[in-house]
Amino acid sequence: MVKTAIIGGTGVYDPCLLEDVREIVETTPYGSVKVSLGKYAGMEVAFIPRHGLEHSIPPHLINYRANIKALQQLGIKNILATAAVGSLHFEFKPGQFVLADQFLDFTKNRGSTFYEGGEAGVVHCDMTVPYCPELREALVKAGRELEIQVQNGGTYVCTEGPRFETAAEIMMFKQLGGQLVGMTSVPEVCLARELGICYATVAIVTNFAAGITTGILTHSEVLELMKRNIELARSLMMSSLKY
Ligand code: HPA
Repeated sequence: MVKTAIIGGTGVYDPCLLEDVREIVETTPYGSVKVSLGKYAGMEVAFIPRHGLEHSIPPHLINYRANIKALQQLGIKNILATAAVGSLHFEFKPGQFVLADQFLDFTKNRGSTFYEGGEAGVVHCDMTVPYCPELREALVKAGRELEIQVQNGGTYVCTEGPRFETAAEIMMFKQLGGQLVGMTSVPEVCLARELGICYATVAIVTNFAAGITTGILTHSEVLELMKRNIELARSLMMSSLKY
C-alpha cells in the first residue's frame, strides 16, 4: 500500500531516489493524473510533478483537485510537497529550507474545494493548523540527522501568479505577517485536508522577494537556486519517511 506521496514543485520533476519506478494514470472526476510509483527503503512512495514534467503548467492552471483526488484514490495518507519561495524576512535566506506552518491566501481563480454544493454537499473545513505538525517534526528529525538546517515554522503567502509580486504587495504581505511568498501551496494544502490527508511543505527559499533587496527577479534565478538545493531537499524528505 502506498502511504506517502511527494508533490514536486519548481525544479523537482522526476522521482529520483525512488527505485523500481512505474508510471500509472489515475482517473478522477476532475481529470486524469500521471503518477509515478516507486520504492524507497522498502516503502512505496508516489510522486507527482506539480508543474508537469517540463514545467509546462503555470501555478494558476494546475489541476490541484485532480492531483489530490488521485492521491487519495491511491490510499495516500501523507503528502510531502516542495515549493520554491521568495523570502520576506532576512532570517530566511536563499538556500534555506523552511517548513511552512501557516498561510495567507491571496489566490483568485482556483478550484479550491471538493465540496461545491449539490450532491457533494457543503463542508467548512477546519484550517487552524494547516500544515501537519507530525510530518514537520519528522522532517526536522531528518534534518538533524543529515545536518541540514531546517526552520520549523513560517507563514506562506500564496499569490495567484504567474507574475511575481510588486514591491508594494510584498510590503503589504510583510505587514500582515507573511514571511514566505509562493504561488502553489493554496489550495493544495486545503484540498488535502478536505480529504483527510496530512500535508507538509518544504519551502526552499530561492530569492528575496520583490523590493526586499534591490534588483529585479527572474525565473532563471529561481531555477538556478533550486538546481543547487534539490538533492538536499530530496534526501530530507526521503529520510523523514522513517520517523
Ligand atoms: N514570489 C512568488 N513565487 C516565488 C518567488 C517569489 O518571489 N520565488 C519563488 N517562487
